[in-house]
Amino acid sequence: MESKRESKKPRHLLNLVDERSDRVVELVAAAARVKAEFQKSGPSDLLKGRTAALFFEKPSLRTRVTFEVAMIQTGGAAVVLDPASVSLGKRESVQDAARSLSRWVDCIVARTFSQNLVEELALYASVPVINALTDVEHPCQALAFGEMLLEKRGDLKGARVAFIGDGNNVANSLAALAGHCGMHFTLACPEGFEQPSAFLAKVTDLCRASGGSYRQVRDPREAVHGADVIYTDVWISMGEENQAAQKRKSFSAYQVNTQLLTAAPSECLVTHCLPAHLGEEITAEVMESPRCVCFDEAENRLHAQKAVLLDLIRSL
Ligand code: CP
Ligand code: NVA
Repeated sequence: MESKRESKKPRHLLNLVDERSDRVVELVAAAARVKAEFQKSGPSDLLKGRTAALFFEKPSLRTRVTFEVAMIQTGGAAVVLDPASVSLGKRESVQDAARSLSRWVDCIVARTFSQNLVEELALYASVPVINALTDVEHPCQALAFGEMLLEKRGDLKGARVAFIGDGNNVANSLAALAGHCGMHFTLACPEGFEQPSAFLAKVTDLCRASGGSYRQVRDPREAVHGADVIYTDVWISMGEENQAAQKRKSFSAYQVNTQLLTAAPSECLVTHCLPAHLGEEITAEVMESPRCVCFDEAENRLHAQKAVLLDLIRSL
């Protein structure tokens, strides 16, 4: 027999690029409200009795801890699954695992190697599925960045973001955020590491509607000229370890260091999704400088994900 839940289609957060712009803008604003409310009143019971299953195929510190803490601070609980034991797609089909989990928990948070897997889970789950990072997007990171920039700047519209490095999952979600919020996004990357053209076509459409812009350049100095914030991420993402030597060579001129900062405005901020590889994509000097706001962004992972959980679970 189909459960009551299975007859209702849940909302998910699978990526940012296909979301509605008003929803993305509202989630960033909600993250800021959730933070202010927590600072004023502490933990709540808004998700009392609710549970989230955390399924992580790749390592994590920030994402895993912040999802768990977000559930605890709202009166709910998180169940951390062991991916080896679940053995998704081997011990049982993704379809059956998604349908079983949906009978017990109120939300599935998944960090997977492939975006397809998160989407397949969502196809069969009757509870919300949240992308906690895939090969294509890291939407929760971009929401936390948006909240951080909103705090520092007061407005996202018109903000100039320079991403130095790989056109990867984090870059994709940030470009999508920029497209939704009317920001100006520049990627500086070596040849062969651009963002996928089909993805960029969507970002361009979003920019057209929001007044934002997207640009891709080779020269990092050109990218940071006039920037409000410089973003960087590891050169070698999880799952790309076999390309490490080649990527280190390709990205050697794409380090965020004090020399690069001389080409940026003096008030330009620097951030990183973390974990950072010092001496590769960013130097210790820049990480430790007052311009670096990566821990403010890391803090906001908690608030942004709490806002997403509240939005999705309470609409069940
Ligand atoms: N930035 C980020 O997602 O960190 P973790 O990989 O530690 O979760
Ligand atoms: N691009 C990195 C982000 C880590 C949070 C990765 O996918 O490993």
